[in-house]
Amino acid sequence: MHAKHPRESETVMAELMMPQHANIMGNVFGGVILALVDRVAAVAAIRHAGKPCVTVSVDKVDFREPIHVGELLTAYARVNFAGRTSMEVGVKIISENVLTGEKRHTNSCYVTYVALDAKGRPTAVPPIVLIADCGLWIADVTTALPIRNPKSAIRNHEGRRRVRRRWREEHRLCRSLAGAD
Ligand SMILES: CC(C)(COP(=O)(O)OP(=O)(O)OC[C@H]1O[C@@H](n2cnc3c(N)ncnc32)[C@H](O)[C@@H]1OP(=O)(O)O)[C@@H](O)C(=O)NCCC(=O)NCCS
Repeated sequence: MHAKHPRESETVMAELMMPQHANIMGNVFGGVILALVDRVAAVAAIRHAGKPCVTVSVDKVDFREPIHVGELLTAYARVNFAGRTSMEVGVKIISENVLTGEKRHTNSCYVTYVALDAKGRPTAVPPIVLIADCGLWIADVTTALPIRNPKSAIRNHEGRRRVRRRWREEHRLCRSLAGAD
């Protein structure tokens, strides 16, 4: 299976926040933002896999600032890590006051998807091709994991998540390559 560049899965969705999106404070309800995150990230995962994908996990989501009714939310997503059947998608949300043009980066998160075959079973996805900050091409990120024993560390989901997080932090690839920072 040919490796794919994160660029190939890049997905952008925008939605104007309307009164029906408000919480009791009059700001945008968190669930509206989470739904947008899941939609945009799912499309990125499906683009990468070329197969149907389901959400299997959402990493910690921080709501940094309130989003106001009348603002335009734009969500940017791309696959930045591929396992055997799973993919981690970085999502960045930008909130824009369309009257003034002021933009704020209000949310970032990582969502993991699993590709499914026709019988609904996890199925293999293409590996990811990344360009590290140093400018080197890395054909398979699992070979670049900065841990002593990658195989044992990625045997379970939590181990994989720790490895991905540590890899993101140490290589700072999420800033330059993923949709999130
Ligand atoms: C996705 C699903 C088919 C995976 O089934 P499973 O029996 O856990 O499959 P596996 O154990 O073979 O795991 C498949 C992959 O998912 C990853 N995975 C499973 N659970 C995970 C979790 N909680 N966090 C991160 N990755 C996870 C595994 O690490 C594995 O990755 P890899 O193939 O890249 O190594 C099953 O959990 C499911 O149907 N979940 C419901 C999905 C859904 O309906 N989502 C909509 C929102 S509710």
